[in-house]
Amino acid sequence: MFDKISETAEFLASRYDGTPEIGMITGTGLGSLTGKMTVNCRFPYSEIPNFPVSTAAGHRGTLVFGELSGRRIIAMEGRFHGYEGYSPQEITFPVRVMAMLGIKYLFISSATGGLNPQFEKGDLMIVTDHINLTGANPLVGPNLDDLGPRFPDMVHGYDRNLISLARNKALASGIAIRQGVYVGVLGPSLETPAETRFLRTIGGDAVGMSTVHEVIAGIHSGLKILVIVVITNMNLPDCMEGTTEQEVIAVAQKASPMLAGLWEKIIAQLP
Ligand code: HPA
Repeated sequence: MFDKISETAEFLASRYDGTPEIGMITGTGLGSLTGKMTVNCRFPYSEIPNFPVSTAAGHRGTLVFGELSGRRIIAMEGRFHGYEGYSPQEITFPVRVMAMLGIKYLFISSATGGLNPQFEKGDLMIVTDHINLTGANPLVGPNLDDLGPRFPDMVHGYDRNLISLARNKALASGIAIRQGVYVGVLGPSLETPAETRFLRTIGGDAVGMSTVHEVIAGIHSGLKILVIVVITNMNLPDCMEGTTEQEVIAVAQKASPMLAGLWEKIIAQLP
C-alpha cells in the first residue's frame, strides 16, 4: 500500500510544481466548489495510476490542482463510497496521496440527512464529531508507521480553531450555520424510521454515507480537519418523508454556491 501511495504521489508531483497546502473533497452535487478555483491542471481519476474510479451520480471523478484565495489546493471532484463496493483503504487512498504530496489541511463537504429536528433542508452544518457506524475502518490491517500511529487519538480530530473560524465566517456572512455530530453509515439503503430514531438517540445530528473514513485517514496522517455538510433532507422518525437521489442532488446543488463562498472565506483567513 505504501508503495502504491508513493507511486501515485510521484506521478502527480512530476506533473505539478509546488507543494499544495489544502486537500478538498466535495461530494454529491457539490462539484461546483471547484468553480471558484484558479485551475492549474485537472486529472481524470482514470488517468491517475492506482486511483479508484468514481461511479456515483453527481460525482465528476477528477482531481484538480489550483489556487483559491492565494492558497494552493488539491480538490477531489467526486469521492469513493463503501456502498459502491470500495474498501475503506480504496476510499481513503486519495487522502493518503494528498498527505504525501504535503497538504496540511483536509476540508470535506458532503450531503447528509438531518436528524436534529431543529434543522431544515438546505442548512449547512459544521461537523464537531462523528460516530462511525459503517462497520469498517480504513486503519484495519498492519499499521503503516511511516504514515501515522497504530492507535490515533480521535479526541481532537475535528480542529477546534478551524471550527471557530468556520462559525465566525458563516455568521459574518449571514449564514445560519449549524453544528453537530455526523453519523457515518454504509448505505446504500436509506434509514428505516427505527434506524433514524436510533441514530438520533445515540447523539447524531446528521447521517451520511461518506466522510468518516476520509476523516479517520486524515487524522492518522496528522492533517487538520474541517467538515461542513449540507442537510439535503430531513430524517425524522415520527414524520418520515422519504427522499430520493434526485432530491439529495438538487438540494446539494442549490446550497453549493453558499457553501463554496463560505469555504473561500475560511481559506482566505487560514493562519
Ligand atoms: N441518509 C443517509 N445518507 C444521506 C441522506 C440520508 O438521509 N441524505 C443524504 N445522504
